[in-house]
Amino acid sequence: MKIVALVGSNRSDSYNMKLTQFMQQRYSEKVDIEILPINQLPFYNQDEELDSPAIVKELRGKIKESDGILFATPEYNASISGMLKNAIDWFSRVETVMVGKPAMIVGASMGALGTVKAQMQLRQILNAPGVGTLTLPGNEVFIGSVHEKFDDEGNLNDESTVEFIDSVVTNFVNWAENAKVYS
Ligand code: FNR
Repeated sequence: MKIVALVGSNRSDSYNMKLTQFMQQRYSEKVDIEILPINQLPFYNQDEELDSPAIVKELRGKIKESDGILFATPEYNASISGMLKNAIDWFSRVETVMVGKPAMIVGASMGALGTVKAQMQLRQILNAPGVGTLTLPGNEVFIGSVHEKFDDEGNLNDESTVEFIDSVVTNFVNWAENAKVYS
């Protein structure tokens, strides 16, 4: 199963990127996760959407060919980051490549709530007609106090968190394999 990942932080030491890379390695036998370089996208501009920049066209193609999308979101001021919203906006127009794709959401923050507010907003955004990704009820991955859960080598070493993500990925793969992707 081919999954594309949209990671909402461009910080060099991003926990959300570390989490995505951890998942990429840990679940490599079940899912092939490709992290898309959404930090290279220009600001969305409606004037440019019909003749989009090459990077937009390239990433659209990758999403179109994928079997699902992994969103890894930080929480910025009780919402998702501008960078992630920018990517979603590009991919929701002209060719609505995310519509009907199964999606999994994860998020990590140093606060106690682990991106709850950002994820609530993300779910609302995913429900917009041009976005239209499907999510499995429940299966919400909120990783709070994340700075206490990764070691210096970038490994997630909190056992109960890892076990929980294992179960969510298993549920996601079982569901996404049978979900009818529509457009
Ligand atoms: C934050 N942070 C933050 N954390 C949180 O739990 N709730 C919030 O509303 C915010 N707001 C916020 C705004 C801005 C502009 C920044 C830069 C940061 C902290 C944030 O969760 C923390 O920096 C994470 O480490 C960001 O994710 P990455 O970069 O580690 O993936």
